[in-house]
Amino acid sequence: MRKKIVAGNWKCNTTIQEGVELAKAVNELAAKSGVKNVVVVLGTPFTHLASVVAAVDTNLIDVAAQNCAAEAKGAYTGEVSAAMVKSTGAEYVILGHSERREYYGETSETLNKKVALALANGLTPIYCCGEALSIREANEQNAYVKTQLEETIFNLSVEDFSKLAIAYEPIWAIGTGVTASTAQAQEMLAYIRGLISNKFGKAVAEETSILYGGSCNAKNAPELFAQPDIDGGLIGGASLKAEDFLGIITAY
Ligand code: 13P
Repeated sequence: MRKKIVAGNWKCNTTIQEGVELAKAVNELAAKSGVKNVVVVLGTPFTHLASVVAAVDTNLIDVAAQNCAAEAKGAYTGEVSAAMVKSTGAEYVILGHSERREYYGETSETLNKKVALALANGLTPIYCCGEALSIREANEQNAYVKTQLEETIFNLSVEDFSKLAIAYEPIWAIGTGVTASTAQAQEMLAYIRGLISNKFGKAVAEETSILYGGSCNAKNAPELFAQPDIDGGLIGGASLKAEDFLGIITAY
């Protein structure tokens, strides 16, 4: 059975102190509500990783970085390597988020290096894809997402591909309050699963966790998560309040 994953992406929000409080609050609520069958992930800024790992019950909550360097180590001032992320106790890394692609110029070439280093260091990438509004309006979203996958994670060996999760986040739905309709989200995730099946086989496709992200909240999560191909969510704004995030975690 493929994993259900609900991952928060805190983006560039919270001080360490605020982040630790938030993580503890999520942990407490998750423990009380007896969350099961869902992998709960907190995607924190680099600075918070070790403190958040220390503050939570890691049997209940995993921690993710939001990026890692494209080089293993060396003279790359300001970069944080996959090995460094792993050494904090984090288990996941979000890669290829549209904000990184758009504001920091991440290309498929850079992402291939990051994914390879993440995997080599035992991190699980949550690999993001998704189209801009103009592409959706031109009804070219399938071809666009296909290319994003073909240029990157579809080049992995089947063994490596089987270790990662994918998040589809249409850019027009991120932070806008506009969620993709349940039908649009399900349709795209089913399409991605079909691409995986063609490339790596049906068994691999059936085991790959594919998440939806973009204005997902406690209200719309139950309907989204009830879809056959939606294996959870990557959550921005609603992951910054413990109660809102818990409402999504318990949507299954
Ligand atoms: P929102 O949930 O704030 O729309 O953000 C989604 C996102 O970008 C998660 O990575």
